[in-house]
Amino acid sequence: MDALFSWFSSEEEERNFLDFMAHFMLFMAACTFLSLLFQNVPYGRYASSKYGFPVDVRLAWFVQELPSLLVPLCLVFWASSSKMSHLPNQLLVAMFLCHYFQRALIYPLLIRGGKATPFASFALAFVFCVYNGFLQVRYLSHHADYPADWVTRPLFVVGSALWLTGWLMNLHSDHILRNLRKPGETGYKIPRGGMFEYVSGANFLGEITEWAGFALAGQSVHSLAFALFTAVVLCSRAAAHHRWYLTKFEDYPKSRKALIPFVF
Ligand SMILES: NC(=O)c1ccc[n+]([C@@H]2O[C@H](COP(=O)([O-])OP(=O)(O)OC[C@H]3O[C@@H](n4cnc5c(N)ncnc54)[C@H](OP(=O)(O)O)[C@@H]3O)[C@@H](O)[C@H]2O)c1
Repeated sequence: MDALFSWFSSEEEERNFLDFMAHFMLFMAACTFLSLLFQNVPYGRYASSKYGFPVDVRLAWFVQELPSLLVPLCLVFWASSSKMSHLPNQLLVAMFLCHYFQRALIYPLLIRGGKATPFASFALAFVFCVYNGFLQVRYLSHHADYPADWVTRPLFVVGSALWLTGWLMNLHSDHILRNLRKPGETGYKIPRGGMFEYVSGANFLGEITEWAGFALAGQSVHSLAFALFTAVVLCSRAAAHHRWYLTKFEDYPKSRKALIPFVF
């Protein structure tokens, strides 16, 4: 696999390329932010045939998220990953793999009655997962230089705690959502319990917190770009779901916010 990287004339050139990828992701986050002012992310309850033929929802989540697991595993085990003997790098890669092991291999099996994903949404998610899996893990496994005491520094400790809190919130909230439906049901109900008592987008708040924590712990433009891109997509989705619930259910809890408890 190292042959793939041989077209870079030096380590520095490859590092510059990864920095460019991160800045391009920041640019794309800004473009996505603008486009999501005018439309919803088109899958789930907003799926539409104008975005391509429907892909079975379980297959879509499995295939589109798998690169975020496989690309990092290839980079760690089949390429020279000179930084993987360092604890901070190991822990940050472990956070990324942990999330995507669940998302690619377990989450699709648990979905109940989800809407088919339009092909364009599926294809964009697949490309994002290849791009981001490569960006995050090539940087961490081959370039990121952390001091030996990094894992005891406040930013890493707080960031890791946020990552874990966000991940658990995301898992718990997705669990609540899927249990709203009995086997065979496809309709929508008001989510209750956990962080849904405070916000309509509890699963999204968890995921945003998770990657913000990862960015805080890793302190790189690469992880920052990922956290911001995630926040842009999921803020829009949380706000859209909140508006949708308010129009769909007359008895929707009035004190519940869209994404940030008591605030927004
Ligand atoms: N990192 C990122 O950039 C990113 C981007 C997107 C998603 N994600 C993560 O992927 C996961 C799924 O995202 P999503 O956008 O599909 O979440 P979602 O819109 O909340 O839907 C999640 C699942 O729950 C069902 N569901 C949602 N609300 C329901 C309700 N009120 N009653 C009954 N069933 C309900 C949905 O069914 P339907 O399909 O029928 O609506 C779907 O199967 C989340 O954990 C999210 O954080 C991450």
